[in-house]
Amino acid sequence: MEGLEILKDGYLETVRNGATSLSLLGRGGGIEMMKQTVVKDKLVVLFPGEDASVQEFFYILSGEMEVEIDGKLILIGPDDFFSARNLKEPVSISAKTDVTLLYVSTHPTFHTLSNEINDLRKIGEEVERKDRYTFKHSSRVAHYAVKTAAKLELGREKIHNLFVTSILHDIGKINIPEEVLKKPDKLTDEEFELVKKHPGDGAAMLRKTAYADLADIVEQHHERVNGRGYPFGLKGDEILVEAKIIGVCDTFDAMTEDRAYRKAFTAQYAVDEIKRLAGIQYDPEVVEAFEQVMIEEGKII
Ligand SMILES: [Fe+2]
Ligand SMILES: [Fe+2]
Repeated sequence: MEGLEILKDGYLETVRNGATSLSLLGRGGGIEMMKQTVVKDKLVVLFPGEDASVQEFFYILSGEMEVEIDGKLILIGPDDFFSARNLKEPVSISAKTDVTLLYVSTHPTFHTLSNEINDLRKIGEEVERKDRYTFKHSSRVAHYAVKTAAKLELGREKIHNLFVTSILHDIGKINIPEEVLKKPDKLTDEEFELVKKHPGDGAAMLRKTAYADLADIVEQHHERVNGRGYPFGLKGDEILVEAKIIGVCDTFDAMTEDRAYRKAFTAQYAVDEIKRLAGIQYDPEVVEAFEQVMIEEGKII
C-alpha cells in the first residue's frame, strides 16, 4: 500500500558494541526512532541538552532498569517509559537485566551515537583484552566524574566528553607489561618509568580517532596542582579541569579497591586523605564537589 512500510527485523542500520546496540528504525521530520539494547549491569546515561526543546523518549520493551532520583531507587520495566527534556544534570539508568528500549529523539542522534559506539568499541575491546580491572575501574571513575562535573556546572558537552574520557583514561596501560601492572610489590624506578608513559600513550592512541579532542585530558590525568605529577609536571591552571576531576575520582577508586599489596581503604579514609591534599595535589573546588557527590551517594557521612 502506498505510504505504508512494513519491516520485519529490517533495520535501516545497526551498530553494536559489547554493552549496547542501536538500530535505526526510521526517521522523518527531524525525529529519529531507534531500538536500543543494553546488556545487564551496564548504564544508559542521559546528558543535559544545550537545546531545551530537544526531547528524548524511551519506552521499555523488555527487561528491567533502575534509576536513582533524589536518593530513591526506582525500578522500571516493560511498558514503563521515561523521557528527558532540558535536564539540569546527567542521569544514569542501570540495566538490571538485558534490556530492549524503543528510543525516540526529536533531534537526529543516530549517526553521532553510532560513530561513537564504533570508535569506543574498538578502543574498549583493546582495553578489556588486556585488563578487566581497568575497564571496571574506568566505569566507576566515569560515574563519579560525571556527577562531580555536574556539581561544578561544567555544561553538557564537557560532561559528555568527560564521561568518554574517563572510560578511556587508562587505555595507554595497554603498553605496560602485565607483570608490571599486576606486580604485588613496590615497582622499581625503571618499572615506574614504564607506568608513567600511560597518559602519553593513551593520548597518542586517541589522537588517531574521532576523540582527538579528548587526548589532552587523558594526557593530564596524573598531573597534580603542585607540579609534582607526570608526565609534564604541569601546575594549577595549566591542568584542564576535566583532568583534575579524573585525577580525584581515579585516586579515590584506586584507594578503595583491594590491591595485590594491600587491602582497600574505606571510602571515608580515602576522602579524608584527598581533602588533606586539596590545594597540594588536587584542586580544592574539585575536591569539594567530589565530597558532595560522595555524601549524596551515601559513601561517606
Ligand atoms: Fe592512570
Ligand atoms: Fe585510572
